[in-house]
Amino acid sequence: MSKSKDWLASAGTDTKLCHIGYDPADYHGFVNPPVVHASTVLFPNARAMETRTQPYTYGTRGTPTTDALCKALDELEGSAGTILVPSGLAAITVPFLAFLSAGDHALIVDSVYSPCRHFCDTMLTRLGVEVEYYDPEIGSDIARLIRPNTRLVHTEAPGSNTMEMQDIRAISDAAHKHGCVVTIDNTWATPLYFKALDFGADISIHAATKYPSGHSDILMGTVSANAKHWPVLKEANITLGICGAPDDSYQILRGLRTMGLRLEHHYKSALSVARWLEARSDVDRVLHPALESFPGHAIWKRDFKGASGVFSFVLPAASRDKIKPKAHAFLDALQLFGLGWSWGGYESLAVLVNLEDRKIRKGPTDGAVIRLQIGLENVEDICADLERGFAAAAAV
Ligand SMILES: Cc1ncc(COP(=O)(O)O)c(C=O)c1O
Repeated sequence: MSKSKDWLASAGTDTKLCHIGYDPADYHGFVNPPVVHASTVLFPNARAMETRTQPYTYGTRGTPTTDALCKALDELEGSAGTILVPSGLAAITVPFLAFLSAGDHALIVDSVYSPCRHFCDTMLTRLGVEVEYYDPEIGSDIARLIRPNTRLVHTEAPGSNTMEMQDIRAISDAAHKHGCVVTIDNTWATPLYFKALDFGADISIHAATKYPSGHSDILMGTVSANAKHWPVLKEANITLGICGAPDDSYQILRGLRTMGLRLEHHYKSALSVARWLEARSDVDRVLHPALESFPGHAIWKRDFKGASGVFSFVLPAASRDKIKPKAHAFLDALQLFGLGWSWGGYESLAVLVNLEDRKIRKGPTDGAVIRLQIGLENVEDICADLERGFAAAAAV
């Protein structure tokens, strides 16, 4: 018989992460859920087939494996339902397709994850949606941009690469007055450090590829909705036939079990590297919301419970033509850091950020923005590697 799980509701975050989503008693006591590979699901008779009166009906519509992950995410997000999709990018495009129609106007934060901008400027525009970008720090002034046909306001906090913080409560309150749906790409904070639906967002989007996976080997996106928006999201998921694969769902649930511990380490290490960088004369500024010097720090402190391992810094250059050569010298000298685009795994990564697609929040003109993902290595080794980069950049 299944043991009571009443104690779980009031348990701490790490306890929850260990026990949410699946009850071993549901599958012969095995600690982890079975990986159900499925397309066809059989029905006992024609009547059951017609009425679909059984929990599972077809592989794309969920299995015990995907349900375990969705249930765990609903616990963490406080959401009414969660869908799984094959990538973090699909976790943005699917809700956009769910909530937007031809003739609608969508407000997208200018510091958005760049492939989201590409989707908006190409496919979404082709489908007749008018897209407008707004300043990440707009707050309640978003109201001034809302038109009668504005249907969706997309946020991302902190912003990609330049880390601007957004006042999600103020934006949501203003957007809701006009009946808009508020979406947030909450990948950086995870639901552990920012519970977006509690701050008014309707839809919380995650690239589970990052910290939930934690090992740079899985691609998956999750979209969690509040009760008002869950039926439309679920319907779009079924209509589009875009669903999460069983092995990937299993691995993401497995990753969630240790995500709290990993995030704590990323948080601590990244902040100490950020402080170390801030104290250097060869760094212009460090873009990390948990630093007191960062313009959006007050919002981060008020609304967030922690910070993950990704932040950026500006490597100054004496002239514009030196920006890229200096940045390349810095990156090429790194030995511990890998040069790679994704993040959220156990390893440290660095990239030179391209901000040329920005419309409102332009990138700095006095230096290169270098984004770091601080992994789980020892901080001394991470800093020793960055020293190699600074020495090479200084020689340019
Ligand atoms: C903020 C953010 N959202 C979404 C994504 C997309 O995730 P995926 O790589 O799984 O498509 C990324 C990827 O880097 C990201 O940085």
